[in-house]
Amino acid sequence: MELINQIKQKAAKLNKRIVLPEGSEERTLKATEIIIKEGIAKIILLGDEVEIRNKAVALNVKIDGADIVNPKTDTRRTVYAEMMVELRKSKGLTMEEALNLLDDPLYFGPVMIKAGDADGELAGAINATGDVLRPAFQFVKTLPGSSVVSGAFLMFVDEKFGDQGVLVFADCAVMPDPDEKQLAEIAVTSARTAKAIIGMEPRVALLSFSTYGSAQHPMVDKVVNATRLAKEMAPDLMIDGELQLDAAIIPEVGKLKAPASKVAGKANVLVFPGLEAGNIGYKLVQRLAGAEAIGPVLQGMAAPINDLSRGCSVSDIVNMVAITANQAGSNF
Ligand code: ACO
Repeated sequence: MELINQIKQKAAKLNKRIVLPEGSEERTLKATEIIIKEGIAKIILLGDEVEIRNKAVALNVKIDGADIVNPKTDTRRTVYAEMMVELRKSKGLTMEEALNLLDDPLYFGPVMIKAGDADGELAGAINATGDVLRPAFQFVKTLPGSSVVSGAFLMFVDEKFGDQGVLVFADCAVMPDPDEKQLAEIAVTSARTAKAIIGMEPRVALLSFSTYGSAQHPMVDKVVNATRLAKEMAPDLMIDGELQLDAAIIPEVGKLKAPASKVAGKANVLVFPGLEAGNIGYKLVQRLAGAEAIGPVLQGMAAPINDLSRGCSVSDIVNMVAITANQAGSNF
């Protein structure tokens, strides 16, 4: 895929430090070898150095260019713990609790980023989404002016849809039931992700089971209000809703149902009304239409921290490290 190659090349120029908390995990080690060989990013593996090196030898994988940091013995632990106590003082976090949390690589990674010792993180090959996200929410937090973290997928489909077959779907990974303001934020951040990572001119559709008032229901009202708020938040962007999926992506249906819309029929960013629709929707397209789905790319966080599916492949990890590095190199 040409786009992924471009993302990797851009990552290589940025030379960012990406921390991988699951340092001794097999796919992570195999991906590390490729990332170093292709110069996509500098890799920091977390875990016990002897265990990681033995595993790499057993797998016949070269990880010489990676830094290995042991969260349990690292000399920065006290400084990091002091910073954590300060960041969570409203929650009453003690020094002892902070030091205990640092034993966990899923906490150590985000704190490294907060301290400026890494630029981004990728985890989730062996950990659940919530366990990857919670430390990030607590210590890296959201971007200034943003209150919601959400997850976008880059979807590669038939080239008659989106921009030569590339679409962005969100939120497919994080926020179970966004309210109208949160949904508006998700729409605006997804447009920024589309621009920053894919370089596309975003045409954002807020999806519903109704187009321009064809159905009345509180769920439709949420999408209508979210569309209005998103337009107020980002008047420079092409955003429209509420649109049904066919009105959003099929030109003839868009013309029929929303003739004056600049988005209908040619949307390239699809914003789902809630996580049920988003998560099920991207998997339907992936499994039934055979689309390649890359993500979730987490958006709205103050620094890039991305989550993997536990079924991920080595190349998924390589691709997501490249995307994480691109996010670290852009200021959206
Ligand atoms: N954006 C920003 N901050 C958030 C968000 C969010 N979306 N959600 C929670 N937070 C913050 C809270 O404000 C809170 O901050 P505080 O401690 O400073 O007060 C902190 O994170 C913890 O909040 P909780 O509500 O206690 O978070 P919880 O751990 O219960 O849930 C989580 C967060 C794990 C993301 C939850 O929303 C969740 O499980 N979402 C679904 C994830 C999932 O399973 N996705 C599908 C699989 S992914 C896939 O298929 C690709």
